[in-house]
Formats: sequence, structure tokens, C-alpha cells
Amino acid sequence: MTMSQTLQAAFNDQIQLEFSSAYTYLGMAAWCESRDLAGFARWMRAQASEETQHAMKFLDFVLERDGTITLQPIEAPSGGFSSVLDVLEQALGHEQRVTAAIGRLYGQASEEGDYSSLPLLQWFMGEQVEEEATVRQIVAELRMVGDDTSALLLLDRDMGGRRGPPPDAA
Ligand SMILES: [Fe+2]
Ligand SMILES: [Fe+2]
Repeated sequence: MTMSQTLQAAFNDQIQLEFSSAYTYLGMAAWCESRDLAGFARWMRAQASEETQHAMKFLDFVLERDGTITLQPIEAPSGGFSSVLDVLEQALGHEQRVTAAIGRLYGQASEEGDYSSLPLLQWFMGEQVEEEATVRQIVAELRMVGDDTSALLLLDRDMGGRRGPPPDAA
């Protein structure tokens, strides 16, 4: 069964959102790198490539379902950060918006009876739970660090080892 036009449009929107996420994380990586936070920068770069893989997963799925891909423009990310805590708080807000978007997509696919989409969307819902939990944990640790530069350096080193699933697990 081919996907409906409206569902195809929603999947195309999601592809745009995943590429936007990659772009957002890339901007965050550059910001961290320019502040000598190499570990955070590395983590953000890994996130960026994971988001690209998410976009490709949606893209491949639409094509497999004989749907049409209409790539949309990707806006420049905001880029204004006051601290590394601010970066991670914005990352969390971003992930929460992505979770909501995938939830709406799930709702739409269910309403239309497009059950073939549900396993993929279910996988993404689980992925979002993990991503939000990882980012929330880092935000909590950054709050504990506060203005302590030595603690921040230690956390940066830890981030360089990148916690959470490796990018190729997506
Ligand atoms: Fe994603
Ligand atoms: Fe994400």
C-alpha cells in the first residue's frame, strides 16, 4: 500500500527536521570547539552524524514505500549561546520538539490506518526517549559543575569518550 499524500508530506517534513537537527548540532559543535571544549565538540559532531542517519532512515523508508521525496530548505541554526549549559539546554528543547513531531507522525499514521509506518515510528519513539534521557543527564551534570572550571574540564574529557549509543548504532 502506497502512503497517502498527506502522510508523505508529513514524512518529508520529518526528513527536513532531522537534517535541521544535524545542522543544529553542527553549530553547537563549532561553538564548543571554538571555546576549546573538544570533548563536547566531539559529542555534538557525533550527534550531528546520528541525526543525518535518522534523516536517511526516513528517506529510505519513503522511497521503499514508493513515496516521493521533496527535499526542503534547511534554515541556519540560531547559534547564540551564553554558555555550554545553554547549549545543552537548547539541545534538550530541540529533542523534545523532535519527540513531539514524531508523536504527531505516529498519530497521523495510526489514524490513516497506515500500519506499515508504525514499526519505524515506534523505533524512533524509543530512540527519542534515549536521546532526551542522555541530554537531560548532561544538563544535570553541567548544573552541578556550575562555575567550577576544573570540573568542566573533567566533564569535557568524559564527553570526548561520548556517552550513549555510538553513531553507527542508529
Ligand atoms: Fe533524530
Ligand atoms: Fe536527536
